[in-house]
This record gives sequence, C-alpha cells and structure tokens, in this order.
Amino acid sequence: MDDYDRRHFIKTSIPGFLGISMALPAITAFATRANAYQGRLKEDGSINWDAFLSAIEVEAKKQHLDSWNELEYVKKASAIAARLDLRDPSLVKAFKETKAKGVGNKRVDFSGLEKQIDYHVTLVQFEKNEQIMHHDHPEMTGVLLCATGEVEVWNYDLFAEKANKRDVLLKQTSHAMLSKGNVSTLTSKERNIHRVAAKEFTQLVDIFAPPYDKKRIADSNWYEVDSDGYKGKGDLFEAVRKK
Ligand SMILES: [Fe+2]
Repeated sequence: MDDYDRRHFIKTSIPGFLGISMALPAITAFATRANAYQGRLKEDGSINWDAFLSAIEVEAKKQHLDSWNELEYVKKASAIAARLDLRDPSLVKAFKETKAKGVGNKRVDFSGLEKQIDYHVTLVQFEKNEQIMHHDHPEMTGVLLCATGEVEVWNYDLFAEKANKRDVLLKQTSHAMLSKGNVSTLTSKERNIHRVAAKEFTQLVDIFAPPYDKKRIADSNWYEVDSDGYKGKGDLFEAVRKK
C-alpha cells in the first residue's frame, strides 16, 4: 500500500485505523523508512515532505494508546521536524503561494498543508511585526518549526484561576527567538499558552496533534495579559481569559 493510500485509508474510521495499525506496526515502520529512502534522502539526513508526514503520523497515532506521553511525542516530533527538507518542492510551492496570497493583507495568514484524523499541519505566515497574541491550545500538543524568518515566542503555563474562570495567573516558562530550523513545542499541560511575534517576514510549519476540531476551537481562549509582573514577580502575570 503506498503512503498516499495509507493516509487516505486512515481518514475512513478511527476503529479501522487502530485495528490496522495495531496489527501491522512493522509494515507501517517499513513504509516510513522506505518512503524516506525513496531516492530522496539527502546526504545531510534530511527527509522529504512525504517521509515527514509518514513519520509524524506514526508518532501522532500513539495518542490513542494508554501509554501516550505528550512530552515524548513533542520531542520525537521536534526531531522529525528538524530533519524536514525545507527545499522539498511541495513545501516550496506552498511557501510561494502563501506568500503571493498574503503579503500586504495586514494579517497573519494560515494555510492548511495536511489534515488527518490524528494531526494537522498548517503553514503560518507573518509579515514583519505581525503577531498572534496570547492564546491556548486546549487538550492539544503543538510543534512549531521556523521555516524562514525570525519569531519571538513566549510560553506560559496556567498557574492559577479564580472561581469565575475569567481571571487567571499565567507563569511564563520560556522566551525564545526562533530562526530557520528552530523548533518550539507545547503540550496540553506545559507551555500550552503562547504569544508569537515576527521580527521579519516569517513562515512557520505548525504541527498539531490532535488536530483542531469544532470542540477544540470552541474551547480555545485568548488572554489579555497585564505586562506588569504580578506582585513584582518576574514570571507571573495576571490575565483575563476571553473567547
Ligand atoms: Fe498557537
């Protein structure tokens, strides 16, 4: 079964997908390796777009298992993302099309690259000084690869919330500059809230597992963050949760 057919089949049903993947893990692993080596594995070890999707799929489908460990998943997905050949023709085409469509429209652009039951991959494009303010990703993991440009990323954990669920305290847990080839991660419990601000024209490849669906979109929140640290503490910030 070729890789396209395998991914296509997975869309048909979760039970069917689980049955097949449990029964044939060796075949899945072999297909992934074969795909990576299909004449397009570079000397530097980089992998093509199809091999990247196959490898992410293998890891993302583990979310259905009791042994699913988000931290391990984001580590593995980061390593896979870091090997993605950003010169792959499929990607280059998407980068160019999104740039042609989005430049000058004064907003961040989102372009779907791949959508499956267990994950999705989106191209996020910023022009210089555009940003996405503080927001969360309910019950999701995220792996964000900088393909071109430079972004500043602040991540936060939910530290405390009042009974009204509106007033919260956020703890800033990381602050990083990402340039080409750098990766930033979040899990449902750690670093789940972030703000992303571009220093220059930037394109990111964002991998979400599980993917957004109606419920996760409805459960998502924005946060209006008071930039003055809470009670003089540098890493705690008062914020208001908004839909
Ligand atoms: Fe985000």
